[in-house]
Amino acid sequence: MKKILPILALLTLIACQTKDPVEQKIDQLISQMTLDEKVAQMTQLAGGQITEDYENLVRAGLGSMLNNVGNEINHYQRIAVEESRLGIPMVFARDVIHGYRTIYPIPLGQAATFDLALVEEAARLTANEAIQAGIRWTFSPMVDIARDPRWGRIAEGYGEDTYLASQMGAATVRGYQGQDSIIRLAACVKHFVGYGASEGGRDYNTTWIPEVQLRETYLPPFKAAIDAGALSLMCAFNDLNGVPMSANKHLMKDILRDEWHYTGLLVSDYASSENMIKHGNCANLKEATLLSINAQMEMDMENRSYIPHLKELVNEGLVKEELIDQCVRDILRMKFRLGLFDNPYCSVEHPDYYNAESLQAAQRAAEESAVLLKNNGVLPLNAQPTVLVCGPLAHNQHDQNGTWCFDKLDSATITPLMAFRQWDKEGKIRLIEQLGKHWSREVNEQNTVQLTRLAKQADVVLYFGGEESILSGEARCRAHLDLPGDQSEQIRAIKATGKPVVLTVMAGRPLCIGADIDCVDATIYAFHGGTMQGPALANLIMGKVAPSGRLPVTFPQTVGQIPMYYNKKNSGRPTSNPVLYDDIPVGAAQFSIGADSYWLEYGDKPLYPFGYGLTYTTFEYGPVTLSDTILPFDSSPHCLIASCTITNTGNREAVAVPQLYIRDLVGSLTRPIRELKGFQRITIPAGEARTVRFELTADDLAYWHLAEGVTLGADGAYTCSAEPGEFHVWIAPNAAEGTPAKFILQD
Ligand code: BGC
Repeated sequence: MKKILPILALLTLIACQTKDPVEQKIDQLISQMTLDEKVAQMTQLAGGQITEDYENLVRAGLGSMLNNVGNEINHYQRIAVEESRLGIPMVFARDVIHGYRTIYPIPLGQAATFDLALVEEAARLTANEAIQAGIRWTFSPMVDIARDPRWGRIAEGYGEDTYLASQMGAATVRGYQGQDSIIRLAACVKHFVGYGASEGGRDYNTTWIPEVQLRETYLPPFKAAIDAGALSLMCAFNDLNGVPMSANKHLMKDILRDEWHYTGLLVSDYASSENMIKHGNCANLKEATLLSINAQMEMDMENRSYIPHLKELVNEGLVKEELIDQCVRDILRMKFRLGLFDNPYCSVEHPDYYNAESLQAAQRAAEESAVLLKNNGVLPLNAQPTVLVCGPLAHNQHDQNGTWCFDKLDSATITPLMAFRQWDKEGKIRLIEQLGKHWSREVNEQNTVQLTRLAKQADVVLYFGGEESILSGEARCRAHLDLPGDQSEQIRAIKATGKPVVLTVMAGRPLCIGADIDCVDATIYAFHGGTMQGPALANLIMGKVAPSGRLPVTFPQTVGQIPMYYNKKNSGRPTSNPVLYDDIPVGAAQFSIGADSYWLEYGDKPLYPFGYGLTYTTFEYGPVTLSDTILPFDSSPHCLIASCTITNTGNREAVAVPQLYIRDLVGSLTRPIRELKGFQRITIPAGEARTVRFELTADDLAYWHLAEGVTLGADGAYTCSAEPGEFHVWIAPNAAEGTPAKFILQD
């Protein structure tokens, strides 16, 4: 024993010496902190004003504030650094979601670019602007899978598909945080988890998601963002399977911490712990605090519950101080990684906002996010046309920026009308403009009369419609998904003049506007595209740029089809030839419509499938060829190469977006009819062909299912692995087209 003790001491000494210096500093700080200081460190309050109350809280060691900018940040930071006992800097956060000053397309629009490098670049440039205002923590990316366009927050995420959202979320994290040892802008991946599945598309509503679906559909984008280095994660507002996420130990402890070994910071959503009282799983703030801390909710956003109750709970022995230390450790680590101890302040002297690099990227993102849904040949416009530019979003410097853009300047936003004025000035078009209608919900008959009169003088009418930005985003859910106000009537009245009509939709969600699209000559679905959406749309309409956006979400024909997404299960009775409502003879008692799975009025098809988008040329996809028809199961050295030659059969260069889908024909749990596993953007000159290649390994075929011999609901019931058998592979322009090649995954 005598010999062992010095060896142990030596080993401890070596361990201490080899401990990461940052961890040592954290240990040192924690050892000096009082319990009150620790609890203050775990609290984040909403700023936006300078008050004595806040100043005192900062002096007492407040950890973070959200929603301050610039001088206000420096004011509070000085108090934190110079007047709090230990001088720990605060971290200032804000929802910088799709741009700070320069606004990029809403995330749903960014997903439509299928361009990861561009999305990463937009996040990098966003960080450049935000950090100048002292913001070092953004509550983005939102990677909630959303399959219900009634839900207003569909605007803020990357759509319906797990693979696409995972890739987009990871690219955004890389862009914000950068590659250096000092993180520029800490990402916060949100909302953990299932928030997008709120019942009925009503925000904050209940979610019920079986574990297998959670693991297969909802969790992977969070894992991907964490693997990309996301420094923090925010819990969601929803109750999931009966337990509000603010206290969901199974997700936040068992899966996040124990299974994924996540070591980053976990923050609540805005007052989400307090909301649990209304959820009805606790009676008061003290109980809410206990539930949250037991799920290791490390920072309490604007709840005012940790400060009054956490110390009490520790003193009563209900919460261990080691747990508090663990939380503080994760908070301090993020501050160290942001370099805040060395550089706590921001320099607000010469801000570099809206610089050329940002504006160019914003324009390119707006160009690439617009999806051409229909074109009877009217686009691109012929040389020197007379165009009538009209519609509620033709010149709306506020609304085209979409949801979440606190810091943009409307005056810096370039609208379609402004862009066409420029084309007019350069003599490339003759412009007739008619506004008179200012918001999307407006009903303005007089304006319709003016538009029909002016349309007669034009070669083509460019109608910019859609939704005001306030109709999408948090808490903005819709029960109808039509064009608001009298836009549909206007479009019909204009079309009745016989002039071609191009409808551009600027909206925060998919709208069910098949009938409007039927009545116009071309439709561009542009989402809310940000600062440079005007020039971007003008470039597309005039043909300076060929459209390359693809839908990141299925467009249903009608609200009654929701939820509708491409990677559905087949059901036991899929339909190939539905008998529709109007085809059923009235009173024909003997008539059989069969027993298939579809809606009588609409069949089972969407308005547009996931991945869909046209351009100014046509692409022909050749057959999919596989490097082998057998993929051995023990995959690591083995992979299949799926390839396909795509020919540009039109007469101009454009971007093709080939998408790799698979189907596992027989699984121990039923499998989706298609699953996205890869995509590329490839420019193909007119008349030329390019071959695209994708690699597939057994890992790509793995899915979550019950482990062999385990019963549903048992601990560790699920396993993620591929199962041998037949697979189909498509390389296709969207989720509804293409002919698959086949291979066997062999045991
Ligand atoms: C939202 C979060 C957001 C937070 C802070 C909440 O209402 O759900 O996404 O980051 O507010 O503004």
